[in-house]
Amino acid sequence: MIKLDISKALVSAERVASFEGKVASAQKALEEGTCAGNDFLGWLHLPSSISADYMTKLQECAQTLRDNCDTVVVAGIGGSYLGARAVIEALGNSFQWLTNNGENPDILFAGNNIGEDYLYELTEYLRGRKFGVINISKSGTTTETALAFRLLKKQCEEQRGKEMARKVIVAVTDAKKGAARTTADKEGYTSFVIPDNVGGRFSVLTPVGLLPIAVAGFDIAKLVQGAADMEKATSVDVPFAENPSAQYAAVRNALYEDGKKIEILVNFQPKLHFMNEWWKQLYGESEGKDGKGIFPAAVDFSTDLHSMGQWIQEGERTIFETVVSIEETEHKLLFPHDDENLDGLNFLAGKRVDEVNKMAELGTQLAHVDGGVPNMRVIVPRLNEYWIGQLIYFFEKACGISGLLLEVNPFNQPGVEAYKKNMFALLGKPGYEKETIAIRERLK
Ligand code: PA5
Repeated sequence: MIKLDISKALVSAERVASFEGKVASAQKALEEGTCAGNDFLGWLHLPSSISADYMTKLQECAQTLRDNCDTVVVAGIGGSYLGARAVIEALGNSFQWLTNNGENPDILFAGNNIGEDYLYELTEYLRGRKFGVINISKSGTTTETALAFRLLKKQCEEQRGKEMARKVIVAVTDAKKGAARTTADKEGYTSFVIPDNVGGRFSVLTPVGLLPIAVAGFDIAKLVQGAADMEKATSVDVPFAENPSAQYAAVRNALYEDGKKIEILVNFQPKLHFMNEWWKQLYGESEGKDGKGIFPAAVDFSTDLHSMGQWIQEGERTIFETVVSIEETEHKLLFPHDDENLDGLNFLAGKRVDEVNKMAELGTQLAHVDGGVPNMRVIVPRLNEYWIGQLIYFFEKACGISGLLLEVNPFNQPGVEAYKKNMFALLGKPGYEKETIAIRERLK
């Protein structure tokens, strides 16, 4: 199993143990559905409840896209985007652009920004390509995604013909409501339903994540199996001291009480960059409310040791770190011997690159702990589907518990609406006439 090392968290064992009762109540409330936000607990037993038939349906749809597309654009934002990208990038080749041998379609992402250059360049890139689209939106009305989808749908139909477009455009959305559902039903697209009781940021193990991940060529059965095993390992019956999600939730709340207001998720593998982004959304949207919440930040090391490293080592002591540490790499590469040794690096000749990386990781941990930065490590044996599945569920379960320890509703995100209301008013969206007048007054 994935392991959690809290030995350098600078929180005593007694202090961690003092959270046992509160964690047990949070676990019980999640299990019994009595907590705040209890209409969004569908993620809790999702891994163990996905049926083989459903997986087959997803895989068949993924195969249709793989058979008919050299490129698949995944349109979605927030919880309808980050999970798929996190998993695909963690498992994929770092230089997919250069090495793709046509075995898997390129997966591109859109609908997560309104950058005109981005969308222009995307449409240019897609010209002449056999592309398909997965349009993902739980509400079916998110502007960023709907705008991108409007462009993509038109281009796909023009380039590939209406009939083929119908085959290679897939919707993942609500069962009944929203524009994405209306369009899918009218056009006859294959569609998958996002369960009502699973919020966006907890939806990576629904078709939201599973379909794009399967299209990218990864084994979603193993991903779900990993998550299901972690579901067991973090269940309500597991003793507090043996439950990694419970321990992580307890330690981060203890640190928060001690004034550590910022948690930095750290990786030493560039492939995990989007796992950081997924985690930031999971914790930021779940805990940042009611004037409370640890601020979730993230860094990619070594890269950011040469930018944020100074701040982390010597800046305001309000931070702690959680390192996602990968034990074994997928490939082996040795540093060569050089007769001239002009760079003075012969002391590393014959060593694996990962051995040096591990020393960077250990050296960083020691330095940061010396600098007063509490450190936790989430130890993941390898970067494959199974362990990523475990990692996802580990963080999800800990997030649910942690939010309840903080006494917030971890499953809503009311604050996300504020900018949308202003944007709609500024753009003169029908139905926002009063807000349009008010905002124009305000800007005079
Ligand atoms: O976690 C969330 O609920 C949000 O990040 C949403 O996933 C995001 O706003 C996208 O919403 P939708 O899937 O409705 O387009």
